[in-house]
Amino acid sequence: MTQTSASSDLKFAYWVPNVSGGLVVSNIEQRTSHHPQYNVELAQIAERSGFDYALSQIRFTAGYGADEQHESVSFSQHLLAHTTSLKVIAALLPGPWNPALAAKQLATVHILSGGRIAVNMVSGWFRGEFHAIGEHWLDHDERYRRTEEFIRSLRGIWSEDAFTFRGDFYRFNNYSLKPKPIEPQPEIFQGGSSRAARDMAARVSDWYFTNGNTPEGLAAQVDDIRAKATDAGRRVKIGINAFAIVRDTEEEALAVRDEIVAKANPEAVRAFGHEVKNAGKASPEGEGNWAKSTFEDLVQYNDGFRTNLIGTPLQVAERIVALKRAGADLILLGFLHFQEEVEHFGRTVIPLVRELEASQASHRLAAE
Ligand SMILES: Cc1cc2nc3c(=O)[nH]c(=O)nc-3n(C[C@H](O)[C@H](O)[C@H](O)COP(=O)(O)O)c2cc1C
Repeated sequence: MTQTSASSDLKFAYWVPNVSGGLVVSNIEQRTSHHPQYNVELAQIAERSGFDYALSQIRFTAGYGADEQHESVSFSQHLLAHTTSLKVIAALLPGPWNPALAAKQLATVHILSGGRIAVNMVSGWFRGEFHAIGEHWLDHDERYRRTEEFIRSLRGIWSEDAFTFRGDFYRFNNYSLKPKPIEPQPEIFQGGSSRAARDMAARVSDWYFTNGNTPEGLAAQVDDIRAKATDAGRRVKIGINAFAIVRDTEEEALAVRDEIVAKANPEAVRAFGHEVKNAGKASPEGEGNWAKSTFEDLVQYNDGFRTNLIGTPLQVAERIVALKRAGADLILLGFLHFQEEVEHFGRTVIPLVRELEASQASHRLAAE
């Protein structure tokens, strides 16, 4: 039976493994596949297990693992065609995509799927990939200025007739898209943690995705974004990445993390770290998603060990509720063996989170 969450409940998402090699740069055994049939079964398991969203990735070339990469929008559409309630978030990268094609493509997928497609606007971290496909590599903050124009274009095209826009990157002249997406329009997520990313989220995004972090690290970002969004009369929802290792005992879970790190490919991890730290350093304040990442953090592409969802079901559920208190609306999860662990997480952790959320809500009511 498909489970759905109430509006105040935390949402759960998983990374779609549409790229080969899984979510860790390690030679540890991973019972995960990037092939379509594995992913269809995974999506069906996820929606039965209480997951609300699946996030597909966009990569144009290999590098640091990820030898094969299926395209995000067409792969997402395939998952939508084989599920009934799961929302699928497709990553879009300005540069290779332009907003006219993206708006039209997504409007059609939104109609085909009964309103279940969303987008994750990514701004680029991989210079070699841009070089390989002949795309200009803009400076860090210019990449975000372009993404913001992209998002404003999507929203304009989806909501207005005779849409006119004069940007530095995109232009539209009395453009009327027909048919438009059904209402509500596709949700717009974005990834990135630099100042430019946070400011863009406050101005135009529905959701802000950040790399793995502690509740304190998350709270600092949330306070910054929410204050700016409030000034702009908006509310931005927050999603945080985590690599979950849930086992019967904490020792077993920690041993799995240690084995992943011990079997990491050091050259690939260091090269990945070099690339992403350079991409972040190019931001004027020298920050960015991976500014503080250690070797161990970088073994998981998006610092997922830092969130520390590594332990027993109860430990993990309690840490998830602490992230909710710090401002998270959604937990984005990666796993070593996706099909079996998504099912196990849905069976053992999500019910505990729902119990803890309910008891906190009743304590709040009693205190009022
Ligand atoms: C949850 C999440 C998902 C992401 N997915 C992708 C992706 O599929 N493809 C991609 O090129 N970049 C992806 N990114 C990278 C971001 O778009 C961005 O380039 C990166 O986080 C650096 O941003 P910053 O310098 O603002 O911190 C993702 C980031 C996050 C946090």
